Amino acid sequence: MKKLITLIFLGLHTFIQAQSNAQNEYIKQFLRFPLGAAVNPKYLSEKPLYRSLVASEFSSITAENHMKMVNIHPEKDRFDFSKGDEIIGFAQSTKSRVHGHTLVWHNQTATWMKEFQGDQQAWENMLKNHIQTVVKHYQGQIAGWDVVNEAFLDDGTLRPSIWSEHIPDYIAKSFVWAHEADPRALLFYNDYGQDGKPKKMEAILNMVQEFKKRQIPIHGLGLQMHISIQSKNEEIKEVIQQSAATGLSIHFSEVDVAVNPKNNPDFVLDDQVNLKQIEKFKLLFSSFAQLPASQQYGITFWNVGDQDSWLRGFFKRPKEYPLLFNEAYQRKAAYQEVMDFFKKK
Ligand code: G3I
Repeated sequence: MKKLITLIFLGLHTFIQAQSNAQNEYIKQFLRFPLGAAVNPKYLSEKPLYRSLVASEFSSITAENHMKMVNIHPEKDRFDFSKGDEIIGFAQSTKSRVHGHTLVWHNQTATWMKEFQGDQQAWENMLKNHIQTVVKHYQGQIAGWDVVNEAFLDDGTLRPSIWSEHIPDYIAKSFVWAHEADPRALLFYNDYGQDGKPKKMEAILNMVQEFKKRQIPIHGLGLQMHISIQSKNEEIKEVIQQSAATGLSIHFSEVDVAVNPKNNPDFVLDDQVNLKQIEKFKLLFSSFAQLPASQQYGITFWNVGDQDSWLRGFFKRPKEYPLLFNEAYQRKAAYQEVMDFFKKK
């Protein structure tokens, strides 16, 4: 019986989806905040469907990889803005906002940075030069930056990295340097997996409190929201509430909802799994919609169609379907659910 109801439900959705496609309705029309996608410039230029979908469905764009150190600053005296500029050009042509990702991270640093030799002052000069050159290049074109990404471990301690090793207080310094370079850009601290990791969340909240006292310019918190159908709703709601209580802008910055987190090779995407994923998407959107309007920076998906997801590419999980659009770039049932929720509001 339950299965029958589920099937009717999904069938109805497909029908409604066809209707709303015909009416050219898009979720973004009904939102009071930007809806974003992380993009790959190669797909933008090589996959027409991908390109048109990003243009029509999203109002904010993040570079998935091409503004990171390894790509944008490949040699000590050479920056490569070509792919980042391509993304900016595309965003401008579609009137989308651009979110910058990411200035300082332990991962995807350039080889020359890992091999860098020098005293503390030399390290500071190197990082300051990186941050300020990139931020100035995009001044006026990028609304906000993930200044520092993933600086804390799950136990709340500072993550060991070339930055924490060579530059005391590197997080605060990075925010100050970014702010000097573009005083109008919103500056975010971005991290993953705060739900169910109270120590990590506490470390982030303590940092925000301390920055406020020291007048370090921080304007927003990025909650990446790489969650799964097994994530606990209460834990998700709690970290959203705790983050919002800081008064900073909130960005669900890298959303995906994994359906096969253990990479089971025999996994089958059935209706029950679909329903669980729909519930998680609805939870994220409805929780975000409840935040004060002034704190709603936006919701960004970590790429577009299921086959574009880092969970397939980076993690090599072929049977993963974590996004809002399927492999044919069609809207999933969740799309209509989310749109209906906002249409009724
Ligand atoms: O561009 C090269 C290509 O030339 C080469 O042939 C290929 C061979 O493996 O690698 C390509 O680079 C890969 C790159 O993605 C582009 O596809 C890198 O190996 C791979 O490491 C890189 O993975 C990225 C990952 O960050 C690195 O940690 C993912 O695409 C990207 O989605 C992911 O994004 C991060 C966020 O920045 C921060 N939060 C977590 C999130 C997921 O890990």
